[in-house]
Amino acid sequence: MVSIARARENPQQPGLQPGPLSLPMNLTDLHGRVVSYLRLSVTDCCNLRCGYCMPPGGITRSEQSQLLSFEELERIASIAVSLGIEKIRITGGEPLIRRGVIPFLGRLSLLPGLNFLVLTTNGILLAELATDLKGAGVERLNVSLDSLKPETFSAITRGGELAAVLRGLDAAVKAGLPHPKLNMVVMKGVNDHEVVDFALLARERGCTVRFIEYMPAGRVEGWQSQFLPAEEILRRIADRFELRPVSDGPTAGPSRSFRFADAPGGIGIISAVSGHFCAGCNRIRVTAQGLARSCLFADDQLDLKPLLRGTSQEELAEALRRFVMAKPGAHRMTPHESHHTPFTMSGIGG
Ligand code: 5AD
Ligand code: SF4
Repeated sequence: MVSIARARENPQQPGLQPGPLSLPMNLTDLHGRVVSYLRLSVTDCCNLRCGYCMPPGGITRSEQSQLLSFEELERIASIAVSLGIEKIRITGGEPLIRRGVIPFLGRLSLLPGLNFLVLTTNGILLAELATDLKGAGVERLNVSLDSLKPETFSAITRGGELAAVLRGLDAAVKAGLPHPKLNMVVMKGVNDHEVVDFALLARERGCTVRFIEYMPAGRVEGWQSQFLPAEEILRRIADRFELRPVSDGPTAGPSRSFRFADAPGGIGIISAVSGHFCAGCNRIRVTAQGLARSCLFADDQLDLKPLLRGTSQEELAEALRRFVMAKPGAHRMTPHESHHTPFTMSGIGG
């Protein structure tokens, strides 16, 4: 459980001095950040096994009773929206493998006050489900894609088929969705030689590719050798193409965005490790087991399951407001060191 007292010891925001705690009605923390973006995981399982996300044998499947039901997930979403959440991203593991996810998305999309319903997928099932996702009211997809070479893609995902993802991207566009944003996790010596190829793809398709610094979630020995800083990724692209900075909207998240000066499409750079974007962080996460996390790299978490199963709407809302208030100001990770308790990314959803 989170300690409000601890968060209050170090308020960086002038005007938020330690003293009797009065909870704001929306999701605001002691550093003055307003949380408006919820990442909601619907499963910790996946049909791929990306090395940076899962152990080779996969994870132990959660008992069904440990997973939040769709009804419980909807309740969290609805309370969150009533507290000022404007954007919900459905994540996993791989969200499209959970049975019943399409009608669930359809119900979420009708929540009054929810401005953006988006989803991150690995794209394997997208060819099959793109039309249903559009019909359910999903506005946009992010697709994780780390290589454009079938063998490298298969090695990174431990067996995934690149062609299936490419079919999925085409199906999304055919279904009337905007071209999915592509998320590439850049790893030195694994796929970093494809950075410029991905920028070329963004130009050809007129879409956005977001280059994500590899995060050592599991703190595997020697992770530093695979780490490529965002500045180096950007330099390689800027050496080749003229880029113009684009200012992101209020719910855009931690991506620095650029468009090509002479072609459609653009790129985003997510420097989760080398350049902290913590000061502008507007997000919280809820895992498929109902654990709320206010920072990916902090241990503080709030188990919503008992609250969902025994308290009123008001009590649950207050617990969330209290939890967000104590959101840590920043993580302490650098390209050289990490201090967090190791975790499996698939349980949290990136
Ligand atoms: N480092 C960086 N990005 C990661 N993702 C998952 N694990 C990691 C990691 N260790 C990304 C996935 C997906 C997004 C949800 O998070 O590629 O696109
Ligand atoms: Fe699955 Fe995404 Fe994790 Fe890869 S990164 S194993 S696709 S959840």
